Amino acid sequence: MSASSKTRLGILLSGRGSNFEAIARNVLAGRLACEIGFVFSNKPNAPGLLRAQELGLPCGSIDSAGVERAAFDMQVVDLLRAHKVDWVCLAGYMRFLSGQFVRQFESRILNIHPSLLPAFPGLDAQYQALAHGAKITGCTVHLVDDNLDSGPILLQSAVPVLDADTVETLSARILIEEHRIYSEAIAWMLRGNYRFEGRRVIKT
Ligand code: GRF
Repeated sequence: MSASSKTRLGILLSGRGSNFEAIARNVLAGRLACEIGFVFSNKPNAPGLLRAQELGLPCGSIDSAGVERAAFDMQVVDLLRAHKVDWVCLAGYMRFLSGQFVRQFESRILNIHPSLLPAFPGLDAQYQALAHGAKITGCTVHLVDDNLDSGPILLQSAVPVLDADTVETLSARILIEEHRIYSEAIAWMLRGNYRFEGRRVIKT
């Protein structure tokens, strides 16, 4: 942890950044006992990055286009380390993390995914749920390992699929739950009252 003694979050995003904003609002309001150490985007024009600038948060980007994965990831790790980041939150970060990255922050990387994992991993999870005919979907906050959307689950929230739903309406209702449970999961991890039982993360 950094000298300031507050846990420092690194946020990685690639796009809109609404999950980042929800976390930032809670941090800035003192509802999460941490500070945002760095906001990083692999897309220099990501709206979420602009928002971080507006909020006066330390932020930066490296364009990932055409860069080899492990080398790129090590540059990102260096940036996060330089900003004394303790925990990493993926918030719409559209890149698969290399094993090298994951090992640098072992069991300290969180992700939010818009389905009830292990159903519908990968891209377009809300579309996948609709197309499959699922009656209930939702979102999952999980720890990140070096497989896609597969690490230990921390929190989930269920969202019913309505007959009239489109990808847009379903995604909007899931997003409300994402914003709620991501901060809840971060708060839990920061309190540190958990233990592992195999893949299970149990409150202590
Ligand atoms: C969210 O649906 C999140 O679950 C997924 O990517 C989307 C990012 O949205 N991983 P935003 O950039 O946080 O608004």
